[in-house]
Amino acid sequence: MIKGEKIFLTELDPANAETIRAWLNDPEVYKYLMVGHTPISKEDERRYYESHTNQGDERNFEIHVADDGRYIGNIGIKGISLVHRRAEMGISIGSKQDWGKGYGSDAIVTMLRYAFDTLGLHTVKIRAHEDHARALEMYRRVGFVDVGRDREAVFQEGRFSDYVALDIVDREFRERYGR
Ligand SMILES: CC(C)(COP(=O)(O)OP(=O)(O)OC[C@H]1O[C@@H](n2cnc3c(N)ncnc32)[C@H](O)[C@@H]1OP(=O)(O)O)[C@@H](O)C(=O)NCCC(=O)NCCS
Repeated sequence: MIKGEKIFLTELDPANAETIRAWLNDPEVYKYLMVGHTPISKEDERRYYESHTNQGDERNFEIHVADDGRYIGNIGIKGISLVHRRAEMGISIGSKQDWGKGYGSDAIVTMLRYAFDTLGLHTVKIRAHEDHARALEMYRRVGFVDVGRDREAVFQEGRFSDYVALDIVDREFRERYGR
């Protein structure tokens, strides 16, 4: 278990497969996610749990509320390079009634602490759809800095949109949050 302030992170539990599948098939949740625009079957979900172990170049965790242990979403980093010491983060709070309570921000800070202090990474990147104000505002508030755009990289609802890229360097994280 990795402890934050409002949340804690645990390894993925296959017993929660149907919960996450329902979230990822919810249009409000997947609206700005890369996954979910094609319905996700039980078989897809089973394969996800088989392939997303915490052994390779990614680490994936469940997000739980500290107060009552409720499972509310997922967070992970992928493309971990131990040579360049970088990775890319992704987050999804599937439980919509828990949006706007600071759980996403705390999960990101907790995951960054793990990435920098435990894995020894140097930079972590995050990307969001250009229209996803809630995510972009939150990422900037946490300390991510805009670094560019993947132009017209995503096709949704009949049009191409940009993905905004942001990153944070370990020294910036430590200046703000300490060790
Ligand atoms: C995006 C997401 C991770 C945010 O998590 P969260 O727990 O709601 O975020 P927090 O409560 O920590 O912070 C939300 C902040 O976003 C900002 N925000 C909220 N709604 C906003 C809006 N409509 N426009 C602009 N900013 C907004 C506010 O600054 C808010 O903080 P504040 O209320 O303390 O001022 C969550 O909504 C989510 O998982 N959505 C579905 C999946 C998804 O889109 N994932 C991200 C893909 S890039």
